[in-house]
Amino acid sequence: MANNDAAILILAAGKGTRLKSSLAKVLHHAGGRALVEHVVRSCEPLGAKKTIAVIGYEAEKVAEVVAPYEVETVVQQPQKGTGHALLVAKRAIGNAKYVVVLPGDAPLVRTETLRALIHKHKKAEAAATILTAVLADPSGYGRILRKSGDTVAAIIEELQLTAEQRELNEINSSIYCFTVAKLWPALAQVKPNNKHGEIYLTDAIGVLNANGETVLAEIAPDAREALGCNTRADLAGVDRTFREWKRDELMNNGVTIQLPETVLIDPEVTAGEDSVIEPCVQLLGKTKIGARCTIKTGSVLLDAMLGDDVTIEPHCVITKSRIESEVIAGPFARLRPESHVKKGARIGNFVELKKSVIGEGSKVPHLSYIGDTKIGTKSNIGAGTITCNYDGFAKYPTTIGNRVFIGSDSVLIAPVKIGDGAYVAASSAITDNVPADALGIARGKQVNKPGWASKKRRELTAGGSGKKSSKKSRKKAGTRR
Ligand code: UD1
Ligand code: MG
Repeated sequence: MANNDAAILILAAGKGTRLKSSLAKVLHHAGGRALVEHVVRSCEPLGAKKTIAVIGYEAEKVAEVVAPYEVETVVQQPQKGTGHALLVAKRAIGNAKYVVVLPGDAPLVRTETLRALIHKHKKAEAAATILTAVLADPSGYGRILRKSGDTVAAIIEELQLTAEQRELNEINSSIYCFTVAKLWPALAQVKPNNKHGEIYLTDAIGVLNANGETVLAEIAPDAREALGCNTRADLAGVDRTFREWKRDELMNNGVTIQLPETVLIDPEVTAGEDSVIEPCVQLLGKTKIGARCTIKTGSVLLDAMLGDDVTIEPHCVITKSRIESEVIAGPFARLRPESHVKKGARIGNFVELKKSVIGEGSKVPHLSYIGDTKIGTKSNIGAGTITCNYDGFAKYPTTIGNRVFIGSDSVLIAPVKIGDGAYVAASSAITDNVPADALGIARGKQVNKPGWASKKRRELTAGGSGKKSSKKSRKKAGTRR
């Protein structure tokens, strides 16, 4: 059913006092996105005539979050209730026949559910249709007072419930479809009859019913779709549901996730068939993982691109980097932005890369810092190698060719180039280029002093008597235990 006769209205002007935050409620994140962004995205495929967001508290920031979408904004200042928010948007709603109203703090609602709500409303030619849910614990929500069958008599807010009404467990999601021509006269009759002096949209339901109009309820297929986020605990609960849905999506696409409840995956992440995600992994941002990869426990990947058959050993942190197929990295490797590890390379434990290319089949197996560096193919970088890319003012590049061998504990002081097939002797401090096929060695020459050790021991033993030295004599000799 086409919806170009409907406007969408997202209520996003409130502060969210119960969150105890300086950030507007709808800007808080759950499931990897701001609450209001989830709502906008669920509405997008409906193909409505227009989408309007009512903004107020931190209006500029909220406008910025919805700016990438086709959303018009209307400012409600001050915020005098959900009904008042609709009145403020009256002109923007214009001549749309229907208006679908959604709170910006109920992010789990799905497009299909909204479609069903609109369909039911149009088919029955109702004045209002409310998305409801039956909750085991309905506290905090407005309750649905049914009339008969599918029809609704009123919505009663928590504070106005009688002792008897407290038993009602069908709640108002605050998601509605209204027939605009019937909405405005009803809202005009609503008075701010509550301790906050606000105009409640919920009161328009009772007015419509009293005026003899039809108000329907549509129960959400999954009660969680109706949940709002008024408190930090609500946010955590909603986040849990989003994460669960995302993990289910990947598992349905052939990904194994061990102890899934411990794994956090952002909405745009993808992973190929037969990849395995171990417990306590975070896959964030736009991370893309190929087929048959293993991401072991404790690793955090943000905007990482992985080819096929990659193994990330435990506790790696990989940010905005590309890893080609058949690479093994970690444990405890850190890939900072703009690192590119080519096919079959090996990045070992306690290795940090920054803005560097590691060529095909090359190895940086242990305890290294490689920054602003290009390494060719099949080179081996010994344990503890450090590229000194920064002199306190500027960054300089290091270039290492193909089949190079860098001995352990070397420092390469950039800018510097190591030619193809060259060797760098262990523990060198390389300041000048090493030509192809040469050995670069830059360290103090070793001197052996025969018999030095026993002579020293004799000196340290008091009077050479063979007795253990006294505390006093040891102190004099300057030794320490
Ligand atoms: C509201 C409903 C309640 C329902 C619940 C579902 C009313 C009076 N109550 O309560 O029946 O069960 O949602 O989550 O409607 N907003 C504005 N301008 C305002 C006031 C609010 O834009 O002047 C926005 C808020 O930013 C929020 C949404 O409207 O996104 C709902 O407001 P909120 O304060 O969360 O209402 P609830 O107390 O949750
Ligand atoms: Mg709310």
